[in-house]
Amino acid sequence: MRVLGIESSCDETAAAVYDGSRGLLSSVVASQDAIHGVYGGVVPELASREHLKSVVPVVEKALSDASAGRDAIDGIAVTAGPGLIGSLLVGLCFAKSLAFAWGKPLFGADHLESHVHAVFLENDVPFPYIALLVSGGHTSLFRIEAWGRMGFLGGTLDDAAGEAFDKAGKMMGLGYPGGVAIDRLARAGDASRFHFPRAWLSRDSADFSFSGLKTALRTFLASPSGAAARVEDVAASFQEAVVEVLVGKALSAAKRERVPRLVYTGGVSANSRLREMASQRGAAAGIGTFLPSKAMCTDNAAMVALLGERRMSAGMFSGPDLNAYAASRFTR
Ligand code: KG4
Ligand code: ZN
Repeated sequence: MRVLGIESSCDETAAAVYDGSRGLLSSVVASQDAIHGVYGGVVPELASREHLKSVVPVVEKALSDASAGRDAIDGIAVTAGPGLIGSLLVGLCFAKSLAFAWGKPLFGADHLESHVHAVFLENDVPFPYIALLVSGGHTSLFRIEAWGRMGFLGGTLDDAAGEAFDKAGKMMGLGYPGGVAIDRLARAGDASRFHFPRAWLSRDSADFSFSGLKTALRTFLASPSGAAARVEDVAASFQEAVVEVLVGKALSAAKRERVPRLVYTGGVSANSRLREMASQRGAAAGIGTFLPSKAMCTDNAAMVALLGERRMSAGMFSGPDLNAYAASRFTR
C-alpha cells in the first residue's frame, strides 16, 4: 500500500508518504518552535491555529515531493492521540474529510505506537525489543512483541525528560525548546563540574522521576555558586544527570527482560550525549542499540504513514467515528 500520513499531536504539523515496497517517499515537517518560543512552552490554542494554517500546504508538499496524487494513495493514516486535543482534531478532521472525499480507507494511529516503530524506517529490528520513548510529553519503557503488541514496563511519575530539559532551559534563560539549547551548550561544558541528583527509585524500577532534579537545579541556580557557574558546565552537568538515568534504566530493563535489543525514540533521543552513552554502554553490555536518525526521533509523519501502511495492509481500519484522545492508553 501507499499511505499518506498526517501528524498534528503537539506543535509540529507533518505529512509524509510511505510505500510498502519502495519505502519513504516524502516527509515534511512544519515546526512551530518560533511561535511558542516567546512563551517558553507550547500554547495549545496557538498550536491549533497554526496547524489550521499549515495542514493543507504541508500535505500538498508531501504529496508533490512523492509525485503522488489522489490516485497514487491507497490509504490515509492520522495521529488520533495522545496529545493536545485541539491540535489532534485539526489533523484528524482533515484526514477524515480527505479520506471521505477521496474514497480511501482511514487508520487512526497511536502517537506512542508510531514512535516505538519509527526505527523500521531505517533499520530492521528483530522482535522482541525494548523501546525507551523519551520526549516532551512521555518517558516510558515498553517491551515490543510485534507490530502494535507493546507492553508497558514503566514511565515517569512526574515530568517527562524533555519537559525537564525544557524547564531547565527556561530557568537558565536559554529559550525554547531548552533541550536543544542544553545539548549545544553542554558540548563546551564539564559534565563532572556539578553533581545533580539521579532518581533511581527502587533498584528494579522501570519508573522515572525528574521533579527532584528540577528543584535541585532551581536551588543551585539561586545559590552563590550557581550564580558564578559557567552556563556550559551547568548544562553539561544537568544533561549528564538526565541521560545517565535514561540510559541506565533502559539497559536494566533490557537485561531484566532478557531482550538484547534496545530502541531509543522520541525527541530527547536526538540528544548527542544520550546517543553517545547509549552506544557505548549498550556495546559494553552486549545489547544491540538502535538510534533512529534525529529527524525520525522527533515528531514526524513518516512514522505515522509507516504504521498506517502496516496496519491497513493487515486489514485494520478506522471508521468515520474515529475520535481524538488526550491521554496515553498505556499505563501500569
Ligand atoms: O518527540 P518530540 O518532538 O515531541 C513530543 O514531545 O512528542 O520531542 C520534543 C522534546 C522537547 O522537550 C525537546 O526539548 C526535546 O524533545 N529535544 C531534546 C533534543 N532535541 C529535542 N532534548 C535534549 N537534547 C536534544 N538534542
Ligand atoms: Zn512525539
